[in-house]
Amino acid sequence: MQGKFNNIADASTTEIPLNIEDEIIRLKKELNAILLAHYYQESEIQDMADFVGDSLELSRRASSTDANVIVFAGVHFMAETAKILSPQKKVLIPDMNAGCSLAEGCPAPLFKKFREQHPEHLAITYINCSAEVKALSDIICTSSNAEKIIRQIPEDKPILFSPDRNLGNYLKKKTGRDMLIWQGTCIVHETFSAKKLIHLKSLYPKAAIIAHPECEEVVLDQADFIGSTSALLRYVQQSSIGEFIIATETGIIHQMEKSCPDKIFIPAPPEESCACNQCPYMKLNTMDKLYLCMKNLTPEIIMDDDLIRRARIPIQRMMDMS
Ligand code: 13P
Ligand code: SF4
Repeated sequence: MQGKFNNIADASTTEIPLNIEDEIIRLKKELNAILLAHYYQESEIQDMADFVGDSLELSRRASSTDANVIVFAGVHFMAETAKILSPQKKVLIPDMNAGCSLAEGCPAPLFKKFREQHPEHLAITYINCSAEVKALSDIICTSSNAEKIIRQIPEDKPILFSPDRNLGNYLKKKTGRDMLIWQGTCIVHETFSAKKLIHLKSLYPKAAIIAHPECEEVVLDQADFIGSTSALLRYVQQSSIGEFIIATETGIIHQMEKSCPDKIFIPAPPEESCACNQCPYMKLNTMDKLYLCMKNLTPEIIMDDDLIRRARIPIQRMMDMS
């Protein structure tokens, strides 16, 4: 992945200052940079960010900022989307290897074949995919606007939904649309255990179970509320309930605890006794790497102009429809 994503190692600084927070703030000013962070980032990165959000909100911020540099603390497809939406800006990512199992499980040549096998279908593709796959799609969606977008497609138009099968099956159930679904999964959300969730609920009977739609159907069946990361955050903020079991990546709990200090948040347990409810890709970004990417102006997202132009079309359709 390193070569593919242009992870340039040069003679740049590797020294980490003791006052790293102050230095990041100083570099932000010096570069006229905006620091965008996803909810699954380490809490200290979230606390440094100018904006923390879900995939859709981060894309909107990336397209509307007047900063010269976008520092994207998230995974590669998110930073790439920021570059597609703001091609004239420099887009930096702390670790170029911060990928995503959904994006990796849907290579462009196979996706192209999938489309060719179903020429009548409209391809609605989850934003968790490469720019090449976006360029081969008709409309991009995120977990916060997918239902709204699908409901705008005429009933007689068949749909291919890629690459997340859990989100696809959830949307199929929600909208009643019979879609053909690519069989990809998120390595984090597929690990939650329905059995352990039921046991946890018996220990905290007053707790509401809330889940991201990338979870398996058996887990979603237990949930009192299902939504994107920002929808889950809004739900806990607006609810009169005091305890929540959170079936998504644990990073989101930081913002939940910050905005609702009196409420209790319990991470849903994974199948194994592991830290599998943390995204290993998101967690590749650290404060040290954040500082270094701003100091050295690398790794930078570099993309071909034609790919940017082609990938932008289905993203713009998403923006217009949501
Ligand atoms: P959101 O768009 O809900 O933030 O989800 C992104 C993601 O990667 C979930 O695993
Ligand atoms: Fe991808 Fe899953 Fe990580 Fe989200 S949590 S970035 S879907 S691997």
